[in-house]
Amino acid sequence: MKDSGDLIKIQRVEKSRLPETDLRNIKFGTIFTDHMFIADYIDGQWQDPRIIPYQPLAMEPSAKVFHYGQAVFEGMKAYKDDRGNVFLFRPEKNLIRINRSAERLAMPRIPDEYFLEGLKKLVDLDQEWIPSEYGSSLYLRPVYFAISNEIAASPSQDYRFIIIASPAQSYYTGEVKVKVEEHYSRACSGGVGYAKAAGNYAAQFLATEKAKKEGYKQVIWTDSKTHEFVEEAGTMNIFFRIDDTLITAPTSDRILHGVTRESLIRLAEDNGIDVEVRRLTVDEVMDAARDGRLQEIFGSGTAATVLPIIGIGYRNEYYELPKEPKNPYAPKLKKMLMDIQYNRAPDPYGWRVPVVTKS
Ligand code: COI
Repeated sequence: MKDSGDLIKIQRVEKSRLPETDLRNIKFGTIFTDHMFIADYIDGQWQDPRIIPYQPLAMEPSAKVFHYGQAVFEGMKAYKDDRGNVFLFRPEKNLIRINRSAERLAMPRIPDEYFLEGLKKLVDLDQEWIPSEYGSSLYLRPVYFAISNEIAASPSQDYRFIIIASPAQSYYTGEVKVKVEEHYSRACSGGVGYAKAAGNYAAQFLATEKAKKEGYKQVIWTDSKTHEFVEEAGTMNIFFRIDDTLITAPTSDRILHGVTRESLIRLAEDNGIDVEVRRLTVDEVMDAARDGRLQEIFGSGTAATVLPIIGIGYRNEYYELPKEPKNPYAPKLKKMLMDIQYNRAPDPYGWRVPVVTKS
């Protein structure tokens, strides 16, 4: 890998916006740091990786991304410990995933060093923007999209890759109820469900907005063919605890390969929790709920981390989960994960990647 000192040029802001920003009172995804990373793929070549002041992008209305949604993204976070050391969490997983997503949308590979060194340089430069409270972080959003100015429905020739950064507290606020969705589908076999394609999220909005009108916060997506199997929940992977067993759907071409999901499975297994990665029907979940064996449901994702669900709706039924399950798994796994992310616990897995080292 080239030395990023040479690879990535930096143009700093003249005046930081940080002094007028209240980092203790942030709505998720609305405040952005002083700088952004940007690189272009033009005439078959990656070129000019640089960090510049955060700013609007000039693009022609004919840019392909606006017409065909040839765009993929990632979600990741930088965490600060009590001494000001800053870490990324398993960034190589996001690199692999963005390039799998790109491949599915017929886009060229992003070079490893653009992705990894771009992230590190940006986080290092904007480190003062990272809130230091446990639970807060710097949300990082790599986005990769088509910029050729041509409205023919074919892959773009040229692309832009950017990374922006946003100080973050929690993604979800309040209690979260989910509704099993049986009409709309998020993904189908052979489709793009496993990719972090921008359009996958737009395609969820209508069903989610309808569920919100009924008092839910998210939907649980079921398989598009039969609507019998649970797959994902809104912007998260989903776990069910029936009796003492934690069950989650296997990843497939319809389900996002969540980094948080994979990490939680590992932590659960290594801490004596029985985990089953298998297909699970809505009937099995609802039968367990009626029999009092459904103990917990929680979502997992970078933005949400581990999110306990308080109730589940299916057709005309609504089931409230136990308020105080015995030996609850969600808070235990969340703490284990966050303690690794925030450098409060040893990291036997090598998941933390230091970016800023103070002590
Ligand atoms: C994430 O969890 O990082 C995601 O990308 C979900 C997003 C829609 C907030």
